[in-house]
Amino acid sequence: MSNYHIKHLEEYYQVYRKSVREPETFWEEIAIEHFMWRKKWDKVLSWNFSKPEIKWFEGAKLNITDNCIDRHLPTRGDKTAILFEPNDPNEPTEHITYKQLHERVNKFANVLKEQGIKKGDRVCIYVPMIPELAISLLACARIGAIHSVVFAGFSSTALATRINDSDCKMVITCDGSYRGNKTIDLKGIVDNALEDCSGVETVLVAKRIHSDIQMKEGRDKWLQPLLDEASTCCEAETMDSEDPLFILYTSGSTGKPKGMVHTTAGYMVYTAYSFKNAFQYRENDVYWCTADIGWITGHSYIVYGPLANGATTVMFEGVPSYPDFSRFWQIVEKHKVNQFYTAPTAIRALAKQSLDFIDNIDLSSLTVLGSVGEPINEEAWHWYNDNIGKRKSPIIDSWWQTETGGIMICPIPYVTPTKPTYATLPFPGIQPALMDENGEEIKGNQVDGRLCIKFPWPSMARTIWGNHQRYKDTYFSAYKDMYFTGDGALRDEVGYYRITGRVDDVIIVSGHNLGTAPIEDAINEHPAVAESAIVGYPHDVKGNALYGYITLKDTGESRNQDNVRKEINQIITEHIGPIAKLDKIQFTEGLPKTRSGKIMRRILRKIAHKDTSNLGDTSTLLNPEVVQSIIDDAYNDK
Ligand code: PRX
Repeated sequence: MSNYHIKHLEEYYQVYRKSVREPETFWEEIAIEHFMWRKKWDKVLSWNFSKPEIKWFEGAKLNITDNCIDRHLPTRGDKTAILFEPNDPNEPTEHITYKQLHERVNKFANVLKEQGIKKGDRVCIYVPMIPELAISLLACARIGAIHSVVFAGFSSTALATRINDSDCKMVITCDGSYRGNKTIDLKGIVDNALEDCSGVETVLVAKRIHSDIQMKEGRDKWLQPLLDEASTCCEAETMDSEDPLFILYTSGSTGKPKGMVHTTAGYMVYTAYSFKNAFQYRENDVYWCTADIGWITGHSYIVYGPLANGATTVMFEGVPSYPDFSRFWQIVEKHKVNQFYTAPTAIRALAKQSLDFIDNIDLSSLTVLGSVGEPINEEAWHWYNDNIGKRKSPIIDSWWQTETGGIMICPIPYVTPTKPTYATLPFPGIQPALMDENGEEIKGNQVDGRLCIKFPWPSMARTIWGNHQRYKDTYFSAYKDMYFTGDGALRDEVGYYRITGRVDDVIIVSGHNLGTAPIEDAINEHPAVAESAIVGYPHDVKGNALYGYITLKDTGESRNQDNVRKEINQIITEHIGPIAKLDKIQFTEGLPKTRSGKIMRRILRKIAHKDTSNLGDTSTLLNPEVVQSIIDDAYNDK
């Protein structure tokens, strides 16, 4: 039996049982066999969820880049590590072998050192999806600097908040970036941000779009000349297992963003292990995750997890719609991608387009399709399964969070039978629990509750940068001795989990708990519907009523909106029951979304509550302009 690579269902159950009965032996065996350590640990695990304090592989010494790069050199030196596909399909693909990656990371690491960066310093990385992004993460890790990547689509205010929160000494950026047929002036955004960030001493600037930018004397330095001068040899720093590897910000339901801190050894072991199993990666496969490295999905499943397994990982600079909506599928065909990992929001956007964008493209290389970031609705699941996977490639609906570091609940492809909209079974080492309102665990199947995790796993975030109390309050105070995820879930008759959405999105209508995700799922079944979001608003009799914001597909045909409203409520009645019918339906041009594609229900809720005086900061939205149009229409009493 292999603990590391699970190949059939019986084996999954055996491995899972072992991971629960003897978690320390389980993880220790994986850690010994599959990674390179400079010194072994003294203790596999010590934990206390009340403090909270969690330590994995305490006393061990290592460097994650030894594991992601150096150890592959003898056997995989000429294998492509990073396959860079540029925004413009006419620009050539770049294949960076493990040997070249080693050289480039070492040079970059030496530049960081020459610029005064030392172990433990924080470095902010604000770089688009070009190879320098992945390389800069690895260069920081090589010398023990803590990277804090900020998605290069955030505004200068958002960037400044993050730089200041973790006291970054350096910012790595780019002159500008390409996004479809647009360019973005990244350096200008950094310049604005830095007006409020006195702690930043150096800005390293990579060249991408060759725009004419301002360089501030003494602070700003072009990266390439420094790299040209740097040595290709940089001994990796020896790190403790619990030394921070990176900080990554995630928004909380209130307050400023939370800088989740991930540490070295546990994060490495878990992301590598989960990558291998969630994608059934085999030696010569080409794996592609469409996320941006600015998010946790990119950290764990573009950079660290794949490279720790010696994989070939695709980095795509562009967007799914440029030059046209066939771009993703063209890339799959061109590079014979085997595993493809994307988000439901992308699937829905692509599903709105004509199938002509897929016909005549050879997608036969695909073996595994992944989904992450939000519940995947049934219609999108089937579209993905029918048109992309051709009903042959299992869809792995993977549930996890920035805080969890790695995939937590997810089918193992070709091992776990899938079920639309279900993330199915927990990964080995993950012990979910469903809790009721009174803080009691709900045992058995066919139940629903609040999703918690009752035992530590190696890649869990260890704290919030500079605010351990907030870490405790947010994740460990709702339920005693449990990590609280903030999500609701149900467990079906065979023990499969379905994530029903954030608990704060649960709406109680006439005393009934209704998750927004299943209602949206039902609505999205209507052939005219592209996307929907449900929020609650106060109602005299029911306590709360449901307000649906619905975007219709743009098919060019005219529609009777009242009929569509009736049909939508009919579908909801059929799928869930009359209790879930919508009291208000507003058709919208789009839904306000975060840069990572999540619908901002907070804003929609405020509009539904007719409370638009304080919508909070909408500047970081992907599409801030839709907010005003939704407000205007809402108050025309549609
Ligand atoms: O509500 C869950 C939802 O996304 C949240 C985590 O968001 P973030 O930290 O941005 O990480 C996203 C990428 C890992 C979760 O609390 N979520 C994530 N994946 C799923 C999901 N909801 C349902 N199904 C999923 N597969």
